[in-house]
Amino acid sequence: MSEMKKAVQFAETGNPPDVVEVVNMETADVGPGDVLIDVEAAAINPSHLLTLSGAYGVQPDLPAVPGAEGAGIVTAVGDGVTNVKPGDRVMIPPYSGTWRQQVMVKAENVLVVFPEHGDPIQLAMLMANPPTAWLLLKTVVDLEPGDWVIQNAGNSAVGQYVMQLAKIYGFKTVNVMRREGLDELVSKSGGDVCVVDGPDLGDRVKEATGGADIKLAIDAVAGESTQHLADCLADGGEIANYGLLSKKPCQLWPDDIIFREIGITGVWLTLWLRKYSTVEERKAVYDELAGFIADGRMHAEVEATYPLADIKQAVAHAMEGGRSGKVIILPNDAA
Ligand SMILES: NC(=O)c1ccc[n+]([C@@H]2O[C@H](COP(=O)([O-])OP(=O)(O)OC[C@H]3O[C@@H](n4cnc5c(N)ncnc54)[C@H](OP(=O)(O)O)[C@@H]3O)[C@@H](O)[C@H]2O)c1
Repeated sequence: MSEMKKAVQFAETGNPPDVVEVVNMETADVGPGDVLIDVEAAAINPSHLLTLSGAYGVQPDLPAVPGAEGAGIVTAVGDGVTNVKPGDRVMIPPYSGTWRQQVMVKAENVLVVFPEHGDPIQLAMLMANPPTAWLLLKTVVDLEPGDWVIQNAGNSAVGQYVMQLAKIYGFKTVNVMRREGLDELVSKSGGDVCVVDGPDLGDRVKEATGGADIKLAIDAVAGESTQHLADCLADGGEIANYGLLSKKPCQLWPDDIIFREIGITGVWLTLWLRKYSTVEERKAVYDELAGFIADGRMHAEVEATYPLADIKQAVAHAMEGGRSGKVIILPNDAA
């Protein structure tokens, strides 16, 4: 028997809070191979805001339900489903549209059954940012324990995961912020140095690290911040650009590219998921990261939670700078 459930929908792109609305959606009957999930929690990430405004690298056909990630409890499975059962908490497959109370997915796409322990809100953030941090640290340059890495937007969720994973793998991090007051977050996350961005970043980082050779710069900001990171790199170092927070082109002097062999490469999780990894590789990475999150070694700060009914306020809140953490939607919480 199908029933009506609430979902967020956008029928056009534009200013994110203006284009989202809550609608009733009929749930289809559970067929062979289907898994029906009650969504417990879903984050609002910068990529969702880009999608709502029409500027992300992949755009859905409209109308669509936003939300690329989340955690939920399986409530029913169709014939032939053996990898999950009712009651399991699972990672909802990427790009299923998670800003809704209930979602139907195919069992073969359910890659991770979460451990029984662990905070569902933290587990809900597994799909996008933790593997992005993993990709940035593990696939761009070969790092050995003791090596230094520098990143900007160090207080973002990805930034926090980068610090925590780097600590687990034995790398040291310089964490660049656009504002003061984030030293405590850095030490709590296992980071080594916290600095505020600026044109003299190279000199200040040299002093803070005792002139360490830094092989990798992780750039979520672009614009002049890319050049500031390049100023901190050892000759032959690599910049991994994975974000466009400043909405400006990456700035990099040709002198650095030619004479100092500074390289720049793009990293996009979506390409790794769709093109550059096997199911076995994805499962191994997600299972490792789910374990780190469940046992508290990886964690992203949360500033606020909202019921589905307050989606416009939630999206507007997620667009604010200077947050202390993520904005999370709890679709099955009563408004
Ligand atoms: N390439 C990929 O596969 C991939 C995957 C996941 C995420 N990302 C990207 O990673 C970045 C971080 O995502 P998230 O979910 O971790 O973010 P988040 O937790 O929502 O935090 C946003 C961060 O961006 C900073 N910020 C916002 N506007 C900025 C600007 N104009 N200049 C400098 N910093 C700015 C904020 O600083 P304040 O606290 O000072 O406001 C905060 O640190 C985003 O660009 C996102 O699109 C990329």
